[in-house]
Amino acid sequence: MKVLVIGGGGREHAIVWKLSQSSKVDKIYCAPGNGGTAEIAQNVPIPVHDQAALVQFAKEEGIDMTVVGPEDPLLAGIVDVFTKSGLAIFGPTSQAAQIEGSKSFAKDLMKRYNIPTAAYETFTDYSAALAYVRQQGAPIVIKADGLAAGKGVVVAETLEEAELALMQMMQDEIFGQAGARVVVEECLRGEELTLLAFVDGETVKPMITSQDHKAAYDGDKGPNTGGMGTYAPVPHMSTMLVDQVVETIVKPMAKAMVKEGYPFTGVLYTGLMITAEGPKVIEFNARFGDPETQVVLPLLQSDLAEIFLAAINGTLADIDVKWSDGSAVCVVMAAEGYPAGYRKGDLIEGLNTPVADSVVFHAGTKLTDAGVVTNGGRVLGVTGFAPTLAEAKQTAYRGVEAIRFNGAFCRKDIADKALRHM
Ligand code: AMP
Ligand code: GLY
Repeated sequence: MKVLVIGGGGREHAIVWKLSQSSKVDKIYCAPGNGGTAEIAQNVPIPVHDQAALVQFAKEEGIDMTVVGPEDPLLAGIVDVFTKSGLAIFGPTSQAAQIEGSKSFAKDLMKRYNIPTAAYETFTDYSAALAYVRQQGAPIVIKADGLAAGKGVVVAETLEEAELALMQMMQDEIFGQAGARVVVEECLRGEELTLLAFVDGETVKPMITSQDHKAAYDGDKGPNTGGMGTYAPVPHMSTMLVDQVVETIVKPMAKAMVKEGYPFTGVLYTGLMITAEGPKVIEFNARFGDPETQVVLPLLQSDLAEIFLAAINGTLADIDVKWSDGSAVCVVMAAEGYPAGYRKGDLIEGLNTPVADSVVFHAGTKLTDAGVVTNGGRVLGVTGFAPTLAEAKQTAYRGVEAIRFNGAFCRKDIADKALRHM
């Protein structure tokens, strides 16, 4: 079978890498791909937002299945367009993807179906928002309603920070229209957990748990990023707790979406805070996480192409999704300046010195005549696998040490939170 993967980040490299191990897959294309996907797939220079060109390519090339990585094309309706053209595609419709595209849409759905989440209010009026924030006091969380590349959330520890965030989002419009509406949320305390699940309608096949590190610097300091590293599975989260999340959050959410008339097919990403009162939803995303995918997919034993196909055909319930027993740690190597303006075009060295039990997923890279160069804020995700989490961490950092580019930085403490629990 011929597969087209849409996107060009670390997540898409991990999807392509896993699909390349499937006996069902003969050829993989990646649009637009990156320097890493170029090695195991054929990159196609079509941007993710060019729906007409993607449909035309899929038809002409006889693509049997398309898989969408990022949220933007999902929200823009790529699944709807492919489906209308009779092309098989894995991912939610534009309407179902609203659970990620609009925080207020997701929050209202959770409220109606009693899915545990932080208390909140939604505002489009700046003075009303300001009055509410002053009345609630800090700590408090301010979120731009729309998409802001994982950067539209401010966890304000003081009232001044909260007021500044409101001002920037609603008055200065630093996120453009995404900040015209804000959600002001109760600040939850506890440990964070990500649970990805393959979903088709009411059928939910949970993946293994993972934990992201969103802050730019060690010790969870600095600005929020798209994610600086991950590990899986999360050893201090019991099977009982995970079952509770699946039964009280993920399955009810899938069921709610069927009932509301926009059933979800794809990967449902549940971001959770494990509070003293139990697990509560921080956010839903309509896709694989990045970099969560770089630790989750390497531990998947089942055939990923088979799972995607089953979800598209509505037969996910018949599939047994199996996981290996080991652990994986992914360390993101970012470019100087990230998550603000960052440098580009630096040559990356050491990519061809493989470190045993590790894999380097490319995110912001580009293949040029001079070699692979940096081309984004998060440049690479180096994943190590091992029977234990401690060894997986060592392996990942050995992999990082083998790679050099000007201005490279990474967090040194990925997975430490979990290792302290052990
Ligand atoms: P989000 O983009 O909604 O995932 O938020 C980004 C990050 O902000 C999360 O990973 C959390 O670390 C933090 N965050 C979001 N909502 C809350 C909340 N209600 N309480 C505490 N922290 C939060
Ligand atoms: N790593 C966070 C996300 O993919 O949304």
